[in-house]
Parts: sequence; structure tokens; C-alpha cells
Amino acid sequence: MIAPRLPHIFYGGDYNPEQWPEETWPEDARLMNEAGVNLVSLGIFSWARLEPRPGVYDFAWLDRVMDLLHEHGIKVDLATATASPPPWLATLHPESLPVTADGVTLWPGARQQYCPSSAAYRDAAGALVRRLAERYRDHPALALWHGNNEYGCHVAACYCDASAAAFRAWLHERYGTLDRLNDAWGTAFWSQRYDRWEEITPPRTAPTFSNPTQQLDFQRFSSDALLALFEMERAILAEVTPDVPVTTNFMGFFKPLDYWAWAAREDIVSHDAYPDPADPRAHVGAAMSYDLMRSLGGGRPWVLMEQVTSQVNWRAQNALKRPGQMRLWSMQAVARGADGVMFFQWRAARAGAEKFHGAMVPHGGTDNSRVWHEVTALGAELRRLDAVVGARTPAAVAIVFDWESWWALELDAHPSRDVRLLEQVGRYYAPLFDRNIAVDFVAPDADLARYRVVLVPNLYLVRPGVAESLERFTAAGGRLVMSFFSGIADAEDHILLGGYPAPFRALLGLRVEEFDPYAPGQSNGLIAADGGRDMCDLWSDVIHLEGAEAIATFAHDFYAGRPAITRHAYGAGIAYYVGTRPAEEYLARLLEGICRDGGVSAPLDAPPGVEVTRRVAGEASFLFALNHTVNTVDLSLPRPSADALTGQRREGAVQLGPREIVILRES
Ligand code: GAL
Repeated sequence: MIAPRLPHIFYGGDYNPEQWPEETWPEDARLMNEAGVNLVSLGIFSWARLEPRPGVYDFAWLDRVMDLLHEHGIKVDLATATASPPPWLATLHPESLPVTADGVTLWPGARQQYCPSSAAYRDAAGALVRRLAERYRDHPALALWHGNNEYGCHVAACYCDASAAAFRAWLHERYGTLDRLNDAWGTAFWSQRYDRWEEITPPRTAPTFSNPTQQLDFQRFSSDALLALFEMERAILAEVTPDVPVTTNFMGFFKPLDYWAWAAREDIVSHDAYPDPADPRAHVGAAMSYDLMRSLGGGRPWVLMEQVTSQVNWRAQNALKRPGQMRLWSMQAVARGADGVMFFQWRAARAGAEKFHGAMVPHGGTDNSRVWHEVTALGAELRRLDAVVGARTPAAVAIVFDWESWWALELDAHPSRDVRLLEQVGRYYAPLFDRNIAVDFVAPDADLARYRVVLVPNLYLVRPGVAESLERFTAAGGRLVMSFFSGIADAEDHILLGGYPAPFRALLGLRVEEFDPYAPGQSNGLIAADGGRDMCDLWSDVIHLEGAEAIATFAHDFYAGRPAITRHAYGAGIAYYVGTRPAEEYLARLLEGICRDGGVSAPLDAPPGVEVTRRVAGEASFLFALNHTVNTVDLSLPRPSADALTGQRREGAVQLGPREIVILRES
């Protein structure tokens, strides 16, 4: 159970009562009851109201809101309220404002205008958090702490002088001496040698490519700098309210923050997801981020902290979720391990930059409202899913995902700027999603013993021990698939010499001599051993076999006939290498075959467009089937089950209408 004070699936949203006259609040509470809301995220942007002048606090209004919610049986995910400092902070401390790489100051008037390394921000935020924690420590409505909000969403790094000093301190901690730093950064190149620590700056806009290791270290530092702010808040909360869990809402595959490091420091992983209803494959990307959230928490349930009921306001055109889509996508999160379904926000705003953002209570009120009808119906359904709370999602396939490698892979001055990690990971994830094969994400040094298939797309940067771990996994009978431009650099972004991909040559049984990146639109062909032909593009490796066999070769160019995709028996397992970007259908067939060989299968055979997952809690097992199509589809159940929402017995054939779902308690 993720929050002992709330043993149900969380249901609710961001509640911003400070934006409304107090007369609205009782109606809010009444409507929350009507909708089945059991948790609200409160106070996320309330700092200016809670501390209208420096050191002058006003909690009376928040007391009344907390009491009102408690009277209505609603728990609170109480924000530390530090996400948007009041304008007075910038007036008193202009140096607390963030500065871009180009030297541009980001001013108040929006939100998140603070430098992560600002002492003034840190002190003011810390003081507020302590006051809040002390005031509400014993309040019966308090169930969860919400640290800040979406750390880094607008300002993930700051290049000001205070940040420069903090960066130097971080570097000092990492390297100890300037000699070590000069060595790690390869400053013999282009006359970059540093003679004194004060000479070092963040990678501010420079005449041309900045030192890659300087850039990589600055990304590490910037993730750590924000994490230090979260840790500062968390330490206060842990001291004052040790029994109340702490979360901060993540943003899926958010590049600037190393969420492996972050997740290790929070009690509950939570996530904000805004798949685009205009994208017919949006649910695939959403699923990928949900699997990441579950994986970040080591398989524990997580919370969908934000989504929208209807439409957002920040795309060029903000497509509306169609009837049933909000329920379908909410249940998708539950199907993939969420124990909470929350929205941004409770009541649609009248003013401000988000007034056209959807909410649980629309501008038009609740009468004759499609959105409100769907909101109350979903609340009623989630109340029937208490038994799902705490259930896990077993997976036999893992995808290795690493933030440092992502940062290093996408630095400038590489063979191709079109190699983007998420696009590559998505290519490997999608065919498994389409076949309903459960996937976990793992850090490169994770224990892989419980998996049968491990996919390693573009693991460019390799830390010590990783190659050995992948070797052990494969030797013990695992199936491993690695893609091109992996095993290229060490943690300092120095090339691993000895022939590419040096740390993986023994495992893969090959050597890559050269890379041939393609221009957009350029492609090559793949010829399989049985003569079958497919396309590939983006990149080709020139490969020498050293024990592996080619399962497909290139069709054209000076490396025509040379290996493109290889297979290498290693111990009791097999290591595959994909030296290009194959056509989607080819990759799908390859991965399907590898999963089949590895004994990995879907929980249920389902027609295309129907997502199937299983969650397991001890003896109880729940099968989720979600029809993402707009057609009626037929499912056939392998054994009789109880419908978790209606209690009815289901067996044999089950029809699912457009965007319909079924959740079965398997016997
Ligand atoms: C999130 C943020 C919310 C709200 C929402 C709008 O990024 O946490 O405060 O701005 O987006 O979609």
C-alpha cells in the first residue's frame, strides 16, 4: 500500500482554492464527494498567499480548507508550495533569478523563476516548508507530501555566477584535484587546461562546441542541484512528520533529471502525463512512461498525479479527449501499476495562463456536462478497485535505460545528430507493447536475474561493471539485444579504445570498424538469410564478425553483403546486435521471435489495438483489457473470471465496444 492513510486508489486533482472566493469552497467539497474524490493536491502555487511578505505567514485560510476537506472525508497531498516564489523574493534577491546559457535572466511573472543554487531561494523555501510541516503535522487530512512541483520543468539548469560557484564545488567533490579534472575533461584539447578552479564556468554559450565532459558534468550537476533542493525539503518533512510519505511529480522521460537517483529518495513515485489525443499512437508513449514510473519505484505502485479530463492549453491546437477516452487512459495507468488517478486540476480557472486548461469541474459547471459525468463515473468505478491497490505487474523483459548515457549520446559533434535515445527506445518498446508483452525499465547496473530478455538500445556511455553484468545475464541463458552506437565511451565521455564497441565485443562476437550515418530520407536494404528483404535507415555499422553470425546483411553500398544484424551464442544465452535502424516490421518480427524463444508471452491473445496487462497481489490476479480502437472487438477468455467493476461472472467470449475496458479478477 502506498499511503497507509488512504488505502484506496487515489482519485482527485490539484486544488487551488486560493484562486476562488471562499464561498466556492463548500461547493467544491460537496462536488468532490459527489465525484468520489478522496485526495487533493493542495497549495502547489500558494506561496505568495501563505507568505505575502518576507517572513509574514498566513495559514488561517489553509487551516479552513484543510478542516473543510477533512469534514468531507477528503485527504490531502499537501504541497510544500515552493514551486513558484512570490515576486518579493526577486525584488529582495535579484540574484535568485535563473540565467540561461546565453546570459538572459528569467524574470518573475510566470513561475519557477529561481536558480537551483540560490541561497536566498533555498533559505526562504526551507523556512516555508518547516512552517507548513509544523502547522499540519497532526492534521487528520494530511496523507502525503508533495515536494515542490515538476522540478526542472521550465528551469532545469541555471548558468549564473552562483550556479558557477556551486558547479565548481560539485566538481571539486567529484575530482578532488584540478589535475584529475583536466584529465577527465580532456583539456589538453584546444588549449582548455584550467590552472585555477575559479577559471571554470558552466558551459555558457561559447564560440563552438563546448567541452563534452564539461557539458556532461554540468548535466549531472544540474540534476543534483535540483535534487539537493528536494532533499532539503524532504529532510525537514522526515524530521517533523516521519510517518507521512513524500513524493514529487515526475514528467516521464524527462531528460534533465536522472530519475533513478531521484526515485531512490522518495517514498512514492508520481507522474504527470499529457498524451496528445490528436496522436493515434499516444497511448503507446503513455504506456512507456507508465512502465518507467513503475520501474523507478522498483515495481511498487505509483500515482498518476496529473492528467487532464478534456484538453490542455499549451499545444498549438489542443485536441479534446473523445468520450470514453479519459476513462480509458486513466484505466491504462491503473493497468500499468498506478494506484492513483489524479488530474490537473479540480476547477477550471477563470484567470491566468491556464484558464483554457481542462479540469474536473468545467467553466460551465456540472449541469449537463459530459466531462463532469465522466469524472463522477470514473470516481465510482475506482472505488470498486480497492482489491487492486498494491498489486504488482510482473515483467520478463527489461529495457536498459540510463540518463547519463542519454546525456552523453545526444551531445553535439557526434557522427549523427539524428540519433535520439527516446526515438530509439520507442522503436524497441512499441512492438512489445503491441504484443502485450510486459516490460520493465532498468538501470544498466541493475540485477537482471529475473528477466529472460534484455534490450539495450544505444547504450553509448558505459560505466565499470556494466559489461560484466550483461555478460553474466546472457551467459546464464538470457537473450540480449543491443543496438548500434553502444559501448562507445566511458563515464568521462572518453572513447573506449580497442575497437568498437570495446566493452561488448566479447559478448557480441564482433567488431565495428566504422559508422555510416545517413541523411534524412537515405536508406539501405536488409537481406535476411532466407532472402527476405526489408529497409533500414539512419545509420549503418561496418561490422567484422568475431564469432557471431549474420542474420541479415546490408543490400547496398561498399559494405553490401556485410553483417547488419547478428546473433552470437554466449554461454547458455544469445546476444543479438542490431547495427542499423531496421524498418519497424523487421524489428517487430525480430523481437517477437526472440521473446518466443525466450519463453516470454502475453497474458492473453488479443486483437490489434487491445492492450492487455496483468497485476498480481498475492493470490489475487487482475487482467486488464483496454480497447484503444473505435471498433467493437472480441476477446476470448482462457478461464472464467469475475468482472472487477460489475461483479458479474465472465467466461468465453467477451465483446469490448469502442474505447471500452474490462478488468477481470482471475480465479
Ligand atoms: C503541469 C504542471 C501543472 C499544470 C499542468 C498543465 O506541467 O505541473 O501545474 O501547469 O502542467 O498541463
